[in-house]
Amino acid sequence: MPEPRVGVGRKEGCLIQSIGVVGAGTMGNGIAQVAARAGLSVVMHDVADEFLNRGLGAIEKSLQRDVDKQRLLLDEKQTIISRIKATMDVSGLAGVDFVVEAITEDLAVKLDMFKRLDATARPDVILSSNTSSISITKLAAATSRPDRVIGMHFMNPVPVMKLVEIIRGIATSDETFEATRKLTEAIGKTPVEVNDSPGFVSNRVLMPMINEAVFALYEGVGTVESIDEIMKLGMNHPMGPLQLADFIGLDVCLAIMNVLYDGFDDSKYRPCPLLKKYVDAGWLGRKTGRGFYQY
Ligand SMILES: NC(=O)c1ccc[n+]([C@@H]2O[C@H](COP(=O)([O-])OP(=O)(O)OC[C@H]3O[C@@H](n4cnc5c(N)ncnc54)[C@H](O)[C@@H]3O)[C@@H](O)[C@H]2O)c1
Repeated sequence: MPEPRVGVGRKEGCLIQSIGVVGAGTMGNGIAQVAARAGLSVVMHDVADEFLNRGLGAIEKSLQRDVDKQRLLLDEKQTIISRIKATMDVSGLAGVDFVVEAITEDLAVKLDMFKRLDATARPDVILSSNTSSISITKLAAATSRPDRVIGMHFMNPVPVMKLVEIIRGIATSDETFEATRKLTEAIGKTPVEVNDSPGFVSNRVLMPMINEAVFALYEGVGTVESIDEIMKLGMNHPMGPLQLADFIGLDVCLAIMNVLYDGFDDSKYRPCPLLKKYVDAGWLGRKTGRGFYQY
């Protein structure tokens, strides 16, 4: 018996059955995995075989963990993997019903990609971005379909985290929002709608808290350990803000603070000088072996 497809109503009689994921990195391979697990065909695009293979390897490893924990059968794992096609050629996305872009967080690189996606994908296809901080309105303006551009901000690690912050650009249509909301639910995530604004809601609330924790350290109000302990035990946060900053990457935290600072022209978003100094030193957190903690 053929497996039921997760069909998502985009228009009457037209279902989203395939999805293009651009970028096979941390976020892209996670998005490809959850989409394939929900039954969608996935075309995953990156610039080199090396990155595609690394992405496919991460998916295989993550699914194997579920097999080991008896949350997934081995043949289900193989079926999920078989739904994912990897391509170095952006034209491989010509046939997909929906696109999620998850490439490097760089405005020029993303604008170029949105122009290419606009030229490649069918005119009715929605182009979404997983950007953490770049204006959806700006990305949409690079295309001929600004009404069909939207933000889909997945959280890391994608297979685990339930939230997708759905960001409406100034021109995003209600139809685009509805289709994106349904798709998000169909792949097992919880959509929450926000409007386009620097940092959206997630990073606008999270990053100033992290930045304030760095200020508290900088001013000698507390130690790394005491600041994190207070937020864990007192506020029930699973991880202290300084440990979380190390986990996210201090360069990423600084870049997002700068987006808020420049975007609102408001000194309340001023990045802490200590955060800048750590980034200058190359102490970027877990990924470099040193941040507020040593790894
Ligand atoms: N890592 C996180 O915690 C997190 C959370 C939420 C959102 N995001 C956002 O997701 C996006 C991706 O982040 P990531 O952490 O997965 O990055 P990453 O560096 O792990 O992966 C990015 C991938 O994009 C590929 N790429 C770069 N330019 C490309 C191009 N022109 N064409 C095709 N592929 C290209 C790279 O080769 C790489 O494999 C960013 O916009 C980031 O802000 C990241």
